[in-house]
Amino acid sequence: MSQTYKNMVQKKHILHSGIFNQTLRDWQSLKSEITPRNLMYPVFIIEQDHEVQEIASMTGIARYGLYKLRQHLMPLVKQGLTSILVFGVIETLAKDDNATNADSPNNPVIRALPYLREWFPELVIACDVCLCPYSSHGHCGILTDKGLDNAESIKRIAEIALAYAKVGAHIVAPSDMMDGRIGAIKRLLNEHDLRNTVSVLSYTCKFASNFYGPFRDAAKSKPSFGDRKCYQLPPGSQGIALRAAQRDVEEGADFLMVKPIMAYIDILKQVKDKYPEYPMFVYQVSGEYSMIFNAAQSGIFNLKDGLMEILGSYRRAGADVIITYYTPLILDWIRLKH
Ligand code: PBG
Ligand code: ZN
Repeated sequence: MSQTYKNMVQKKHILHSGIFNQTLRDWQSLKSEITPRNLMYPVFIIEQDHEVQEIASMTGIARYGLYKLRQHLMPLVKQGLTSILVFGVIETLAKDDNATNADSPNNPVIRALPYLREWFPELVIACDVCLCPYSSHGHCGILTDKGLDNAESIKRIAEIALAYAKVGAHIVAPSDMMDGRIGAIKRLLNEHDLRNTVSVLSYTCKFASNFYGPFRDAAKSKPSFGDRKCYQLPPGSQGIALRAAQRDVEEGADFLMVKPIMAYIDILKQVKDKYPEYPMFVYQVSGEYSMIFNAAQSGIFNLKDGLMEILGSYRRAGADVIITYYTPLILDWIRLKH
């Protein structure tokens, strides 16, 4: 009887011989490896330079004033952090229809950038570009009584991107989802001779997702009415996501992104397969962060093991860089491994 079962394993189909120790297992898994270069860390900067504000909806994540951010980033850069994605959050500065404080001299990102560049000369700094944290209505574009004014919106988005570029952003990352924004930003950077030293990371396939909730608390950017379904992509869609990628490529984006990622890994794979020449970014958004955190809290899995399994799938599906709030923890795990 057991002889019969022995014969059932054909010699050429023995898999165990390829995975009997850790190095062999690592060889099977190189495409899902994660190094510090594969990570970008999102950070929130506030007006109050010496304050730290914990974010209730995202355990372990905080908004930092300039000097606190320096302290927070210092050890991370020593552990190999290569890039950050910066969000400004305002509390006392005014919010208006035109998002004036997105690029005013008082804006926390505008103020922080020259310092961050000086303190962390090797760190690549990307800036999120959008109106929603600074507009009175909390929408991502300019509104008129007829609805979104796309032309005015991309004009304003490009102006804000230029302002961040001028104070030292290496990368500007428009998250607004207005039509034509990549082209508008590229043209303005070009006119100001910044074409070779600033890149555009497009939030290419950004879906109108249920997973942004904690972020809208964190960035104080909840829309005061309505939703974002007329400019963010429908969650069930596929074709329009590929059209968005094609458009951004044609308008000159340097890097593409899929956001959120957990429910959109098929889109990642398709965009990467269609545009293998472009580094692909994925954004593990606030709701994904908190969901995984809570799952680990309630004992469903060990945080490190569960998270690394999930992130490995993004790498395998074609993600080059993962934007994740877990970056500090992951850097620590990588360090301990060596
Ligand atoms: C809006 C913006 C959003 C995120 C970054 N910029 C989403 C939204 O509110 O529509 C999401 C980030 C996250 O959830 O972690 N411009
Ligand atoms: Zn926005």
